[in-house]
Amino acid sequence: MLVVGGGIIGLGVAWRAAQRGLAVAVADPDPGGGAARVAAGMLAPVTELQYGEEPLLRLGMASNERYAAFAAELTELTGLDTGYRATGTLAVALDSDDREELRELHAFHGRLGLASTWLTGRECRRLEPMLAPGVRGGLHVADDHQVDGRRLAAALVAACALAGVVFHRAEAVELLVEDGRAAGVRLSTGERVAAGRTVLAAGSRSHLLPGLPDGVLPAVRPVKGQVLRLRMPTAHGPFLSRNVRAVVRGQHLYLVPRADGELVVGATTEELGHDTTVTAGGVYELLRDAHELVPGITELPLVETGAGLRPGSPDNAPLLGPTALADLAAATGHYRNGVLLTPVTADLLADYLATGELPPLASDFTPDRFAPKVPA
Ligand code: GLY
Repeated sequence: MLVVGGGIIGLGVAWRAAQRGLAVAVADPDPGGGAARVAAGMLAPVTELQYGEEPLLRLGMASNERYAAFAAELTELTGLDTGYRATGTLAVALDSDDREELRELHAFHGRLGLASTWLTGRECRRLEPMLAPGVRGGLHVADDHQVDGRRLAAALVAACALAGVVFHRAEAVELLVEDGRAAGVRLSTGERVAAGRTVLAAGSRSHLLPGLPDGVLPAVRPVKGQVLRLRMPTAHGPFLSRNVRAVVRGQHLYLVPRADGELVVGATTEELGHDTTVTAGGVYELLRDAHELVPGITELPLVETGAGLRPGSPDNAPLLGPTALADLAAATGHYRNGVLLTPVTADLLADYLATGELPPLASDFTPDRFAPKVPA
């Protein structure tokens, strides 16, 4: 079988499928690249929960529960650290409107049986002394953690190689369709890679693969996120100990402190096509909002800026499992949750590829949910 796309989703699927005894290849000019190279790596099914997205919550919780073992297995096999840290997350309110919204979110968590704890502003600052004095309260979610997307991608590339996955380091430029079935791809080098089954895991380029018949996959739109990387001082205790997030002027802002001293600040949300330009306005807004949340941030060295493309399906939930084209499956459209959903996507797709049965956990996410409904 062939996986088109060597980002963390494609690599996860390839690795797990190879572990199930399948012969697996991956087509990608730069395996381990993609949106995870930019992403902050928050594992936040609870603090990123949106009203009406309960099925996605179930999937996210299932993936979060697998993360520690997934990361430990990768490290044991490859010797590479994934940067997985069980830090928890603090979502804070900067004014009384934010506080009302967070209180409603807290009540919603309660109705869903999710563990989150309401804290006063003073209690928030006791946990994170660098927070602005004006913080009005917050929610502590002890089970929303973090992983380093770059380290995770490197460990997945190594684990795939150890499991016998073959890498074709070139772009897939055409899906081959023979007798109404997917039959592999043609690469930019001209080589044809034949495959009994093909998995499309090419993020926001998935539906653009030439040769893909109309209507097989809905459009997966690119949603740009600009992200900053700063360096925290190591002396005098931690600058931040856990993920901190807030909604500032309607934008989701988060700060993710890594064990190695990197502080990731994200992210803008921009629908501008396949554009990954870092703009002065994007950097300004992130620094302005982060400064409101943690004023001391302006003292830190700014070491990197970048932009990635979240792959957004029409309903912002992933596309998992078989498509209307025989022998073509999808693993894409993970939007804001690609890093979080990597372990569960890998397991679900590997199950499907090994047994022909898609596990029930994936049933809300099959691509056919977008097929036109034919009246009975
Ligand atoms: N999950 C964080 C983001 O998409 O910005």
